[in-house]
Amino acid sequence: MGKDPQLEETLSKVQKYLECFHLPLEKLQEISARLKKDFNRGLGKHTHHRAAVKMLPTFVTATPDGTEKGDFLALDLGGTNFRVLHIRVNEDEQRVMKSQNCAIPQEMMVGTGEQLFDHIAACLGEFVNSQDLKGQTLPLGFTFSFPCEQKEIDKSILIRWTKGFNCSGVEGEDVVKLLKEAIHRRGDYDIGSVAMVNDTVGTMMSCGYKDQSCEIGMIIGTGTNACYMEELKNVKRVEGMEVKEGENRRMCINTEWGGFGDDGALKDILTEYDEEVDRTSINPGIHTFEKMISGMYLGEIVRLVLVKLTQEKLLFNGETSKALLTPGTFETRFISEIEKEDKGVENTKKILADLGLTSNAVDLHIVRLICDTISSRSARLCAAALATIVNRIRVNRKLDHLKTTVGVDGAVYRKHPNFSEELQDMVRRLAPQCDINFIVSEDGSGKGAAMVTAVLCKKKFKRLNEFNCA
Ligand code: BGC
Repeated sequence: MGKDPQLEETLSKVQKYLECFHLPLEKLQEISARLKKDFNRGLGKHTHHRAAVKMLPTFVTATPDGTEKGDFLALDLGGTNFRVLHIRVNEDEQRVMKSQNCAIPQEMMVGTGEQLFDHIAACLGEFVNSQDLKGQTLPLGFTFSFPCEQKEIDKSILIRWTKGFNCSGVEGEDVVKLLKEAIHRRGDYDIGSVAMVNDTVGTMMSCGYKDQSCEIGMIIGTGTNACYMEELKNVKRVEGMEVKEGENRRMCINTEWGGFGDDGALKDILTEYDEEVDRTSINPGIHTFEKMISGMYLGEIVRLVLVKLTQEKLLFNGETSKALLTPGTFETRFISEIEKEDKGVENTKKILADLGLTSNAVDLHIVRLICDTISSRSARLCAAALATIVNRIRVNRKLDHLKTTVGVDGAVYRKHPNFSEELQDMVRRLAPQCDINFIVSEDGSGKGAAMVTAVLCKKKFKRLNEFNCA
């Protein structure tokens, strides 16, 4: 393709438009340094109220050691589906005995909180009945994948909705209380103690059962976020957990890195496309970093670039289509399909045809280049953020060299053909003194919620919250 001068000219024009997405190593180092500052702000006693990166305490103070056991219920809410699971933990496995998916209709995602929690309680009730667990009041691990100010393991105030949810009457409220009230309204079954966890924490805990050096959990799916084990003495925002000199106690911190940039810290790298995605989202100004990275938004960024380049007559002969001009029509999964090594070209043709676009070989090449640029920026930004965490853990522990494991989940990481490779390569360059192992978590957030509950149920942690493990 390279020799035709007209083609060369088109490609070089396209490259100019895509330049705004390129983030060289030095820029990523700079971004990582900014995030490092924001971590300190989020953890600080007097600064956390206004911090863009919330650094939320999770009250999870221990990772599993492999001796946990018992039967647990888990609820996993964080996307368009939610799951109910019955999980058995014993010496050598965390087994999903049974699980059930329940859809959350779009109108319920933006309806009232009461409707949402009644729906959750109804699905949980149906599950408990069908599994004959009704008389058992099992402890429940509740994975709720939104930013929450956790007061205790079973008291968790929703700060704000993200990822397309916007139910009324829930922000500022204790989510565990809303769940329990909905169960009581029904009155036909009961649950034991509840442990609330974020999906990042669940992912870390479920991987931690197998690999005890797993002390970071990361999600790159519909949304993005990470948690890690922080030294308790640095968590200044939690009262009543003072640490004595020389003690090595830790607490898992849910960073909520999706909020990075909400105070303008990423202004220099935001493109006109990012600004448009934010403007047309249901939560403008919120979760700036997430909107550059996660599955809910990547497809839309690509669509906006496609529209722009078509209007500039660099694609599709300058002709857009109704579908291409409609927000949300270019799904994030298309990016993975287009970038596939073997079937990429075939997939691209089909996707463009379904969008009502007529393409030639050059168009196919450019569309792939756009997808690659957007997914690659996402992987590099995640790498910068993850490097901030591993570097921090290493410095916290005064080590020259850190060996650690990250538990990961999320469709962008799992399904994109080279996202994980690009992320891993880049994080190794940004954190050269760290030896990082990545484990993809299977059923992580559900199993992990059960693990948190199981760790609490071990006798020595009972004092934390009078956790009732019946
Ligand atoms: C939420 C996080 C969550 C992440 C991944 C974000 O939108 O704020 O709490 O961990 O999505 O699901």
